[in-house]
Amino acid sequence: MTRTPQQAPKLDGAELVRGDFAEPATLDDAFAGVSTALVVSGSGKPGERARLHQNAFEAAARAHVRHVVYLSLQGASPSSRYPFSRDHSLSEQYLAATGIPYTVLRNAFYLDMFLERFDAEGVMRGPANVTRGAFVSREDAARTAAAVLEDPPGGTHDVTGPEALSLAEVARRLSAITGRQLRYQPESVDSSRDRLSKRERASWRVDLSAGWFEAIAAGELEHTSGAVFRFTGKEPLNLEAYFTLFPELLQPLRLAPDQDSRS
Ligand SMILES: NC(=O)c1ccc[n+]([C@@H]2O[C@H](COP(=O)([O-])OP(=O)(O)OC[C@H]3O[C@@H](n4cnc5c(N)ncnc54)[C@H](OP(=O)(O)O)[C@@H]3O)[C@@H](O)[C@H]2O)c1
Repeated sequence: MTRTPQQAPKLDGAELVRGDFAEPATLDDAFAGVSTALVVSGSGKPGERARLHQNAFEAAARAHVRHVVYLSLQGASPSSRYPFSRDHSLSEQYLAATGIPYTVLRNAFYLDMFLERFDAEGVMRGPANVTRGAFVSREDAARTAAAVLEDPPGGTHDVTGPEALSLAEVARRLSAITGRQLRYQPESVDSSRDRLSKRERASWRVDLSAGWFEAIAAGELEHTSGAVFRFTGKEPLNLEAYFTLFPELLQPLRLAPDQDSRS
């Protein structure tokens, strides 16, 4: 399902259908004849986005879908420091209220989310303190979702990487892979919000940027789970194995040698 079928890739064995979470009538067409649905969260402001997901879950119920798999976030809770975790918690409640049998996969923060957080000097700043997160690769999150779609519905599962890492450890290990000096600079919540507010006027965007680190600091994403192995029969990739398989992802961190010596 996509809002723009003309731009979607053609995949063997796949039927393309237009659907928009914001237009419930399109969802009735999209869910017609579907027995198992994977609902990937869409884009939107926290809170508003959950209502879009509610449209999808209610359309699935009208179409008598027998199993909805919803991709949520580790630490989803009404009291999370990260606005999207509160939004996922609300989405999970909307899904449960439909009465459809479901499975919720609460993915850890993705390993590639760091790549955009280092500045030109190779510094990642934010109020995560020294707390660890059990970051996962998109590869393992996708393989787990694919396996769960074949299983009977049931449960809410954290989908994590094999180990919990502090951001300083992430920077050190990415430095070893890329050969660049990368480091994590902890900052207080107030300084982080002040810094972010100078370049971003929308306060909800500041909440998202700072909240990502604050949720890590609060230990919301610290716990590792065995879900990837349990569902797929394979251990999740660690940071080095993931970026060895997808080296092109590291491109933003690799500077030309003369640039590196200037910084
Ligand atoms: N755990 C983490 O660290 C983490 C990090 C980033 C993202 N995520 C989650 O991972 C998922 C994918 O993220 P992404 O960065 O890959 O996002 P993306 O590239 O923007 O993909 C979003 C997808 O949602 C669809 N979508 C958006 N709004 C929609 C709407 N109103 N109705 C129907 N479909 C809609 C888009 O479909 P079309 O554009 O084709 O219509 C697209 O396929 C999301 O669930 C996101 O919340 C998790």
